[in-house]
Amino acid sequence: MEEQTGKKVILSGIQPTGTFTLGNYIGAVRNWDRMQQDYDCAYFVADLHSLTVRQEPGALKKNTLEAVALLLACGIDPEKSLLFVQSHVRAHAELGWILDCNALFGELTRMTQFKDKSAQHADNVNAGLFTYPVLMAGDILLYQADYVPVGADQKQHLEFTRNLAERFNNLYGEVFKVPEPYIAKNGARVMSLQDPTRKMSKSDENLNGFVSILDEPNVIMNKFKRAVTDSETEVVYREGKDGINNLMTIYSVITGKSYDDITAEFAGKGYGDFKKAVGEVVVDALAPIREEFGRLIQDKAYLEKVCKDGAAKASYVAEKTLTKVKKKVGLYIVK
Ligand code: TYM
Repeated sequence: MEEQTGKKVILSGIQPTGTFTLGNYIGAVRNWDRMQQDYDCAYFVADLHSLTVRQEPGALKKNTLEAVALLLACGIDPEKSLLFVQSHVRAHAELGWILDCNALFGELTRMTQFKDKSAQHADNVNAGLFTYPVLMAGDILLYQADYVPVGADQKQHLEFTRNLAERFNNLYGEVFKVPEPYIAKNGARVMSLQDPTRKMSKSDENLNGFVSILDEPNVIMNKFKRAVTDSETEVVYREGKDGINNLMTIYSVITGKSYDDITAEFAGKGYGDFKKAVGEVVVDALAPIREEFGRLIQDKAYLEKVCKDGAAKASYVAEKTLTKVKKKVGLYIVK
């Protein structure tokens, strides 16, 4: 990618396990849109990753197509960026295997997401859940990415990717670019509206804990109205005020206002006014996305074309790296 334009390469992915949350949007996808101006970007729907947790097959298929439509609705432009579905590019699974054979059991057992997810899904602690970070490393390394824009929860996986790339390069010679995480200062960890000590997540059983980016305006307003705060009254960013801090972060990212400006704006007003204002800016920010998604999801032929073209372009880039890797490790290649 970089070879053609000289721009730095960005890569990131999102799982198709349901409509994206406001956390996915603020922590990741919103930034992906903006980066298309200055970087060569590759964005993909990480469907193979979703198989690490039991999925209902019909729902996974539907969610995958919807995820493509959502990315388009959020501004990802397939003329500017690579946009594809992970399982459409075979190189991901293939590189995943070769990297599995260079990843260490010990380092994978230290991954906090593996610990959390194996506790959550104790009846299905499968090998894929364990080696998930290796597949993710392959996703990134195939495209020789310079930066990977993600939320804070993916930082450990990025550190693992860097270690694995360096180990591979040391063993076999320079093949991979060693990528840097790109984690926004503000909004990299949007918290649950019901338990602001926990990350906002689409798998939250409490539906009031997360805002989905396709929620109707009245639903969004109600979720913010019910958001858990504290027993004080001042809208100020301070340790211990997790609920208010989270709302201030959301408001600040969307409006561009600083925390001091927000405190001044709501001086003398109650939390009720503040929550209403946060709900309103979120509704306004998400309205065009919901509208565009509604239009795109009707146009299956267009979505399929985006997927097909994206897969062809991404495969071309990915195969180049994969072939280099195969040669380096000594796999016998016939043309
Ligand atoms: P996933 O699908 O869980 O989340 C997609 C992106 O959204 C970010 N995110 C959040 N950011 C802020 N606050 C939150 N509450 C929040 N919840 C989610 C995530 O950090 C992520 O950036 N493993 C990845 C998908 C993946 C990937 C990759 C990413 C697969 N291969 C290669 C980058 C590069 C995941 O499960 O993201």
